[in-house]
Amino acid sequence: MNILIINGVNLNMLAYREAGIYGDFSYEELTQMIRIYAEKKGILAKLDFFVSNYEGEIVECIHKAIIEQTTAIIINPAAFSHYSYAIHDALLMFKGIKVEVHLSDVHNRDVFRKNLVTANASDHMISGLQEKSYFEALDYIMTKQATVK
Ligand code: DQA
Repeated sequence: MNILIINGVNLNMLAYREAGIYGDFSYEELTQMIRIYAEKKGILAKLDFFVSNYEGEIVECIHKAIIEQTTAIIINPAAFSHYSYAIHDALLMFKGIKVEVHLSDVHNRDVFRKNLVTANASDHMISGLQEKSYFEALDYIMTKQATVK
């Protein structure tokens, strides 16, 4: 079982973003926290991380996951979430388990953040829990994986 964790535009710069909104950690620290959480929970899946500021690179990363039949995707498309039909359409082709996550509570911020274009292509969306949004996504995938077996 392998889980691909994709992060979109500006998330490589987490250490420089609004800590009160996104959390007080860097992208590298976020990936570490996710790995530690998975280990603690006894999740044996291989975790792969991908971060990019380019929409097309994210689309191609999803294409690769489709071809390689990756078990699950956790995706935070960041600002792309609000307007990328390309990422939405790529996710539609992915038949594994897919969860969209957001560090911040996108429902209760700027009006433009309420427009969630990519989320419709995922099975589930979790927002507003900072790093715990990713942890919950892992839990969701493990529960879902157990029921499809
Ligand atoms: C974000 C929320 C988006 O609105 C924003 O553009 C981001 C990060 C989040 O994780 O809270 O860059 O996806």
